[in-house]
Amino acid sequence: MKQRVLIIGASGFLGQKLMHVFSASSLKSPQYKVIGTHNSAPQKNNNTIALDITNPQQVQTIIDKIDPHIIILTAALANMDLCESDHELAIQINVEGVRNIVHHCQNRLLVFYSTDAIFDGKTGNYRENDPTDPINFYAKTKLQGENIVRTLPHHLIIRTCMQYTDQKDNPKFISWLIRNLSQGNPVNVATDHIVTITLIDDLAQATLQLIKKSCQGIYHVAGAQALSCYDMAQIVAEKWQFNKSLIHPVQRKDLPWKAARAQYATLCIDKLRGEGITMSTFEEGIDKVWKRYME
Ligand SMILES: NC(=O)c1ccc[n+]([C@@H]2O[C@H](COP(=O)([O-])OP(=O)(O)OC[C@H]3O[C@@H](n4cnc5c(N)ncnc54)[C@H](OP(=O)(O)O)[C@@H]3O)[C@@H](O)[C@H]2O)c1
Repeated sequence: MKQRVLIIGASGFLGQKLMHVFSASSLKSPQYKVIGTHNSAPQKNNNTIALDITNPQQVQTIIDKIDPHIIILTAALANMDLCESDHELAIQINVEGVRNIVHHCQNRLLVFYSTDAIFDGKTGNYRENDPTDPINFYAKTKLQGENIVRTLPHHLIIRTCMQYTDQKDNPKFISWLIRNLSQGNPVNVATDHIVTITLIDDLAQATLQLIKKSCQGIYHVAGAQALSCYDMAQIVAEKWQFNKSLIHPVQRKDLPWKAARAQYATLCIDKLRGEGITMSTFEEGIDKVWKRYME
């Protein structure tokens, strides 16, 4: 029997990749029937259906109708600075929205994404059972979400880091960097923000593999290499042959961020490796992104 997989937040950057990875996997062996949801941005290619997770009635109607075996919850207010300036909205989506979904998951597997920012960021290379100490309001709400998800008998919590992708409209660091350097704009980049930056394709593939292997509990899924944003910018400039003098080294405190960022936003992926699942180094990942940009 095919397993019905409901991807909530299929219009987001990770959600779109998950739709692709699960649909491609179903072509090879028709194990999954994949259904995705959007909130404000319908996805024509993927035929997503509308769902606002903050509306408990809507959540009940959609879950009852689809009756999924597996729910993958990527929907979140993932913008750290917006969470810092609008606590109410962050709680509504990242805590109450999660609670609304959890309410219908007693007999299903729920996959939930969390963040390295639930750790204090002072030492880095955090393992799954290291003590948490959220660094900003976004992380506080994600940790509350984790704790709600952990009450379920079947859950998989995937903690991950800053993501990058070949999607050119992505507002996040690497796409922003390529856009600006290609237009000859100077960029200020932190030397003291060290990240195990994660290729979204790898994250989506690792999610599929963890589900196929029936893994449950908490897993760290992040890039295989810890680098500062400044070092990443140098590698990107080298690869695309951008003018490196446009990259200005600064400190985190010099950047106009509302929410605090960790010095070491890095996760240890030994437990994931123990399952035989590998992640790209930044050099390997950026090479894949570069090839797609050149197509
Ligand atoms: N991006 C990162 O660097 C990063 C790092 C660590 C962890 N994470 C976690 O990874 C997950 C995916 O992040 P992402 O970057 O893919 O996020 P994203 O691109 O900002 O996408 C967010 C998704 O959530 C949906 N959404 C927002 N409010 C909603 C609501 N009230 N009801 C239903 N859906 C709603 C959005 O739908 P519409 O667009 O249709 O409105 C969109 O599909 C999140 O859980 C995030 O916390 C992300």
